[in-house]
Amino acid sequence: MDKLRLGVNIDHVATLRNARGGALPDPVRAAVTAEASGADGITAHLREDRRHIRDADIAAIMEAISIPLNFEMAATDEMQAIALSHSPHAACIVPERREERTTEGGLEVAADQNRLSHYIGPLSDAGIRVSLFIAADPVQIEAAARIGAPVIELHSGAYTDFDAEENIAARDAELARIIDGVKRGTDLGLEVHVGHGLTYDTVGPIAALPEVAELNIGHFLIGEAVFLGLDGAITRMRAAMDAARSSGVAPSA
Ligand code: PXP
Repeated sequence: MDKLRLGVNIDHVATLRNARGGALPDPVRAAVTAEASGADGITAHLREDRRHIRDADIAAIMEAISIPLNFEMAATDEMQAIALSHSPHAACIVPERREERTTEGGLEVAADQNRLSHYIGPLSDAGIRVSLFIAADPVQIEAAARIGAPVIELHSGAYTDFDAEENIAARDAELARIIDGVKRGTDLGLEVHVGHGLTYDTVGPIAALPEVAELNIGHFLIGEAVFLGLDGAITRMRAAMDAARSSGVAPSA
């Protein structure tokens, strides 16, 4: 069984740094610590408004780590030029709206197919693995396969943001959509990642799916680091992922 990779998103270390306008806490140190704690990759999102990661962080992080950088970016000319200038291992194309607090939904691939297929061409030609951050929606998954993206990342927010105690059936329906999406993506030959909002409590049913190659987790881990240290938070998440993957327990949905 292939190992489930953990990508640690360090954006919110930079959020904290920026809150005081200085240099601390240092997202580069977070990336190095995450690598030493068992992360398989580092994820960082350079947003248009630079609210967390900034341009100079990208080169500094790449310089400091030996695991792959997954560069999250909106499909703009500016971000394409930055990605091409750094050549990270992977680029994850995400939708971006200035007023949102986080990446709230998936990329609209089906309706923007022509533009996106031209957009990702130069990134792929430069050897950057392109993934598309999309909802677990068959229409979007099929469009991603059509435009030749090798990887999709399914947005797990509709599952993780649910207050399960209030409406467990609705949450399980969202989980079932992710499970179907993972299968559909794999059947189409795509590598499937999942991310957004995952916690120790919600990671199990996703990590148990043998087709999922990678999880990208940020906000919760950085929050937990306040209590356990980044090392402790990552170690505990890794253990939860590995336990679910090796038990192969069928998810509840
Ligand atoms: N994957 C993608 C593509 C994202 O945009 C984000 C959020 O930035 C994450 C994963 C991580 O989400 P969270 O910070 O909620 O764990």
